[in-house]
Amino acid sequence: MNALILGASGLVGGNCLQHFKQQGWNCLGTHFGFETSETSFYNTLDPNDSNNVDIEGFNPDIIVHCGALTWVDYCEDHVEESYEKTVQSTINAVSIAKKFNAKFVYLSTDYVFDGAKGFYTETDDVNPLGVYAKHKLAAEQHIANNLTDYLICRITNVYGDEIRGKNFIARLSENMLKREPMELILPVDQYATPVNAADVARAIYQLSIAQGSGIYHLASTDYLNRVQLAERVYSYFGHEQVSIKAVNTAQLNQPAKRPLIGGMSAVKFNAEFPDFRWANVDDYLSVLKKRTSK
Ligand SMILES: NC(=O)c1ccc[n+]([C@@H]2O[C@H](COP(=O)([O-])OP(=O)(O)OC[C@H]3O[C@@H](n4cnc5c(N)ncnc54)[C@H](OP(=O)(O)O)[C@@H]3O)[C@@H](O)[C@H]2O)c1
Repeated sequence: MNALILGASGLVGGNCLQHFKQQGWNCLGTHFGFETSETSFYNTLDPNDSNNVDIEGFNPDIIVHCGALTWVDYCEDHVEESYEKTVQSTINAVSIAKKFNAKFVYLSTDYVFDGAKGFYTETDDVNPLGVYAKHKLAAEQHIANNLTDYLICRITNVYGDEIRGKNFIARLSENMLKREPMELILPVDQYATPVNAADVARAIYQLSIAQGSGIYHLASTDYLNRVQLAERVYSYFGHEQVSIKAVNTAQLNQPAKRPLIGGMSAVKFNAEFPDFRWANVDDYLSVLKKRTSK
């Protein structure tokens, strides 16, 4: 199986690259601005960029598209850039899938919902609140309208191993390990279902070999708000100079509206893959603790 992973220098794409390789797939992972030893340059915004790696020669059977502008507050004031990086990049990636008759996997988000309900299932009504969310939904719709063999995997609060260590748990644990003073002001009313990127990669692999298609919500058993998530990290790596202050989202004046009671139900996936075991935040933090105390 030839797997093209667009955005393999990032959190989800990097984990896909590692897992698919371990499973014996022939992989081509790409980066855009952040070169890694295992990736090649590809710009989804310009398929004619002369620096792009040769996708024709690779002839992908499956494309996992991980690129997007994920800075939700920035997207509110940069609507065109958000459209380009999230919607147009997907339109371009879908064209590649069509050309090679490849399966297409798209990573989407619980932000397509309004956060009134939580534990969203694949059949719940969407109602995106902000620019990023609307563009993620527009990208989903383009895929569904133009391809038949596709997977839309909705995820949220992703954590795990990544080269840049930029996800919430990685950043917090690293900063706490440095034992520097930290004051965290976090929303206590934004709930989600954190998921390990390694599990997202495993789930995509399972879905792909089972020839699954359509929308799937990927989530573990954790259901935590941001304060609880930070407290979990604190319980492993905290010290006396870390303070965690809980506030309401309204007090933060964030430019983009958030779905407050977010998070996904993975009931559909779990019913189809009853042997699949999801890690939770404690599993990951225990491993991280062992690794960092060596
Ligand atoms: N992380 C989460 O909590 C979360 C939650 C819900 C949904 N998602 C979705 O999951 C997907 C992956 O997220 P992530 O956290 O793994 O993001 P990430 O770590 O920021 O990775 C994004 C990847 O896309 C690449 N990229 C950016 N612009 C590109 C371009 N013009 N052409 C080609 N590649 C480009 C980046 O390359 P460089 O870094 O090399 O520039 C990077 O490899 C996104 O679609 C996101 O919306 C993530």
